[in-house]
Amino acid sequence: MAEVLPIRLYGDPVLRKKARPVTDFSGIPRLAENMLETMFEAGGVGLAGPQVGEAKRIFVAALYQDLPEEEEERVPLKKRVKETFVMVNPRITFAEGEAVGTEGCLSLPGLYSDDVPRKFRVRLEYQDEYGNPKVLEAEDYLARIVQHELDHLEGILFFDRLPPPLRKQFLEENRAELARMQKEAKAFLRELAR
Ligand code: NI
Repeated sequence: MAEVLPIRLYGDPVLRKKARPVTDFSGIPRLAENMLETMFEAGGVGLAGPQVGEAKRIFVAALYQDLPEEEEERVPLKKRVKETFVMVNPRITFAEGEAVGTEGCLSLPGLYSDDVPRKFRVRLEYQDEYGNPKVLEAEDYLARIVQHELDHLEGILFFDRLPPPLRKQFLEENRAELARMQKEAKAFLRELAR
């Protein structure tokens, strides 16, 4: 059975670390499975290694079937999966176009911005959980997800991508909530160290 892992919150230093390339794939299929389970449980579209305390260059993502709002309530997210992705050592080899859109993050629960700039289309080279080389060409929503997750591997959070005045505004508007998360992240780390 896959395990649901604790998701690291804003304020946890692992979220600001540059993740290390994966060279030993022995634990990776298991980690990927647990990350997918954790993402479904949290209702997310993507989750990167650092978000579960693993500073490794891996992320998972999923596309879900759209349902009418009243059905969305009843159907568990796992039952709506159209496609899942496990990407290890990903890198963008081509990008074009500009798009501004909405993003949130499982490490910043409840916080969103509608103004996050990304490339509209990207080509990604990566390895699957067994180390096999793969290529993905994505645009629009999926391209946004993979860019957001790739940023996590560099210690970058979505609000860092906002133009400076909007970034400042985001931090000011959410100051209390961010401080609360930082406090919770610290408490989690204290507990972990015991
Ligand atoms: Ni995120």
